[in-house]
Amino acid sequence: MDNSIIQGFSKYTKQQRINALIQKYGFEPDLAEWLGSFEATNETIRKIIDDLSENPVSSFHLPFSVAPNFVVNGKNLFFPLVSEESSVVAALANAAGFWAKRGGFHAEVLGTEKKGQLHFKWNGNPEYLQSLFPEIRLKLLTESAFLTAKMEERGGGITQIELKSLPTILPNYFQLDAGFETCDAMGANFINSCLEQFGKSLQDYFLTSEKISTGQRECEIIMAILSNYTPESRVRAWVECPVNELFDGKTEAECFQFAQKFEQAIRISQTDVSRAVTHNKGIFNGIDALAVATGNDFRAIEACGHAFATRNGQYAGLTDVQVKNRMFRFSIEIAMAVGVVGGVTAVHPLSKLAMRILGNPSALELMMYLAVAGLASNFGAVKALVSGGIQQGHMKMHLSNILNQLNIPEEKRAEIQSYFQDKTVSFSAVEEYWRNLES
Ligand code: MEV
Repeated sequence: MDNSIIQGFSKYTKQQRINALIQKYGFEPDLAEWLGSFEATNETIRKIIDDLSENPVSSFHLPFSVAPNFVVNGKNLFFPLVSEESSVVAALANAAGFWAKRGGFHAEVLGTEKKGQLHFKWNGNPEYLQSLFPEIRLKLLTESAFLTAKMEERGGGITQIELKSLPTILPNYFQLDAGFETCDAMGANFINSCLEQFGKSLQDYFLTSEKISTGQRECEIIMAILSNYTPESRVRAWVECPVNELFDGKTEAECFQFAQKFEQAIRISQTDVSRAVTHNKGIFNGIDALAVATGNDFRAIEACGHAFATRNGQYAGLTDVQVKNRMFRFSIEIAMAVGVVGGVTAVHPLSKLAMRILGNPSALELMMYLAVAGLASNFGAVKALVSGGIQQGHMKMHLSNILNQLNIPEEKRAEIQSYFQDKTVSFSAVEEYWRNLES
């Protein structure tokens, strides 16, 4: 294998990049043709997708699914979902249908403030700097006005700037901890531009102000970057119904037994970290699927959500349940920053369609839909876990993946599916059964 270091790879053409793969790994010479078969045939779309990233050699497909019956604050919607995990969409669609018959999902946004930090070092007295801060703050706001004007017209802008002295982290270390309102944008570019401008203005202040002594004119900017932790950008979603209406065709006692088990599962997720992580993973099965479909940064949403899950001092499940006065109320509260303008949302043709399917929501509405997707996914998972277990449903999906992997002809599938209905599905078991069937 050729292990030489490649220079200037990003300047290679697609064909040259593929040739480099062929040369290094000894792939078949028709690799380009094969990779090309995954790309959009429409030239414009292919270019849009290629331009989303660096060094593309093909396009990576995931199913773009839709789940009907999501009733949110009275609106009945399909949710567009992108997930590689086969049971996720089925669980979401199930939960949506279940709650559509019980009043649907309710949601509200509790705040939208985003955050960012300028990290810097200055060799001076923190109290003295604090006393100068009103004047510094004014300079920061004035000199970033050219960046904030448009956002202010839309009702956003800088909401606050706090100076923090944090010498326990690093000697002479300070932070400007700033809040931003970014309206319908996730705001990453806006926030980072403002913060970098704060850095320039701050350095200029130290260099030029007569209130700074000559020996203390140096201010070292460590970095300027938004924080993906936005605890004040929060959303809540919930469902509720009388306990005895939880299931059609089940006795009241069975409904109460389910509610009690469900409640126990939630309490465990709120106190046991090992369970909480899996519980929240199930929540993000739904949130991520909707976030990816709408072109949102699911990594940012996950990072924020997981940090929010530690807000009471210990990592805990993000959902809560109350079974009180014969009512079942299941809810989620989660922090996140999302956008509906700019970024991939406005570029990827399928994200644009996803937004249309959702009725071109505002950022606030999308926050509510994401919280609902998380709640629905968690409801599906916990309901399955405390009822028959999740393997039943998972294995049905797993079997369909295995049938694809083994290239089983369409007309033979029903027979195999029926055989495995009450048996444990594994790749080797299906393969063996198929071999016997064929011989
Ligand atoms: C699997 O992707 C997600 C679950 O493990 C979530 C959970 O355990 O709550 C089923």
